[in-house]
Amino acid sequence: MSGNGNGTEREQWGSRMGFMLAAAGSAVGLGNIWRFPYVTGKNGGAAFLIIYLAMVFCIGASVMLAEFAIGRASKRNSVGAFRKLKGGAWPIVGWLGLIVAFLILSYYAVIGGWTLAYIFKSFTGLMTAGSAEDVQNIFLTFIADPVQVIAAFFVFMALVVVVVYRGVGEGIEKYCKVLMPGLFIILIILMVRALSLPGAAEGVAFYLKPDFSKVTGATVIDALGQAFYSLSLGMGILITYGSYISNDEDLPKSVATVTFLDTMVAFLSGLVIFPTVFAFGVDAGAGAGLSFIALPAVFSKMWGGPVWSALFFALLFIAALTSSVSLFEVVISYCMDELKWTRARSSWIMGTAIFLFGIPSALSNGAMDIKLFGMGFLDGLDWLCNNLLLTTCGILICLFAGWVVGDRMKKEVTNDGGRPFALLSPWTWILRVVAPAAILVIIYNGLK
Ligand code: PHE
Repeated sequence: MSGNGNGTEREQWGSRMGFMLAAAGSAVGLGNIWRFPYVTGKNGGAAFLIIYLAMVFCIGASVMLAEFAIGRASKRNSVGAFRKLKGGAWPIVGWLGLIVAFLILSYYAVIGGWTLAYIFKSFTGLMTAGSAEDVQNIFLTFIADPVQVIAAFFVFMALVVVVVYRGVGEGIEKYCKVLMPGLFIILIILMVRALSLPGAAEGVAFYLKPDFSKVTGATVIDALGQAFYSLSLGMGILITYGSYISNDEDLPKSVATVTFLDTMVAFLSGLVIFPTVFAFGVDAGAGAGLSFIALPAVFSKMWGGPVWSALFFALLFIAALTSSVSLFEVVISYCMDELKWTRARSSWIMGTAIFLFGIPSALSNGAMDIKLFGMGFLDGLDWLCNNLLLTTCGILICLFAGWVVGDRMKKEVTNDGGRPFALLSPWTWILRVVAPAAILVIIYNGLK
């Protein structure tokens, strides 16, 4: 295996398509499916969608391009990238990203375990529960059962290790090439089913009817926060994935494709969720409650319920798995480049470390009373990462690419001048001023 940090050649993506699907796999996660539809429905439907698109394509895409460029210019992990391009105190930014990736994975994989367990539960008691209350009890009992959640978390984490252990081309890319088309197919099947339910139109109307009266400053901040999280920015993932991109790849075009795919999945998820919950008059919330309680309750009333439910959890499972793989690769790439460990050694050691660190998150949902910042451990960690660490890292990445190594970045995105990029100068100013200022507002708001 190449690229094990012992002076052999660095691994690369095998194909353009494979790289796109891997990057899209990172971006498409629980945030697309259980958060985006709800935030959109709450914030004025199509009115929010327009603002979200503006945030994704102006600011989100700019930061993504900066991360890919930093990665490809340095061909290093997130820490090594900053050291190679500039040095000084800048590698701290890479460290921050690395730590965030480690922390997020430790609880993201816990939820990944839940999705995996629920694929199987779809065929057992879940679908024969009489009422929404029963479904809720099943969920609360499940996440409070230490044996079941730890076992599911362990299996999920083991799958992440198995994928990453095989390498960039042979592992991550190969799996994403199968899993991502699978995800799209499941999404389309669920959407067709949802849209053909009686009363679906009402759900679609709630989701998309433009209501500009709901658009405020807070809406714009929500849109930007969601864009940032959804595109997996600010934690070294795209720097790491960027470091495996070949030199003749067109970076701006790659960014456009990945951004488009991510947005498409988020948009279509809303067309699954709202028609489904509206058809059965269930309250649509966000997050775990929607996915593990409201939707199973609805599926249980549908003909073929177990199949719909299993398909939905398979969708969540794939979304969570490919995102987790990208988080893990940040850590592995660091161990290989900087500690000179082999990929195998890095995978087993770090996989174990993350599993152990994730145990409090796994147990903090009813099994034990473990708190962080006055919240359950899992929620506290999520709050810390999303509101503080990831955003801070995002600002620093923008400033670095915009001001510190600006010329190097311009060369990188144009392939040394070989591929002119029409938006070069707006891009630079977004990185230098617009994005950092906008992200500061998100942080301020999150701390309030
Ligand atoms: N982008 C993923 C989503 O939308 C979330 C994620 C964040 C994944 C950070 C990996 C790392 O759910």
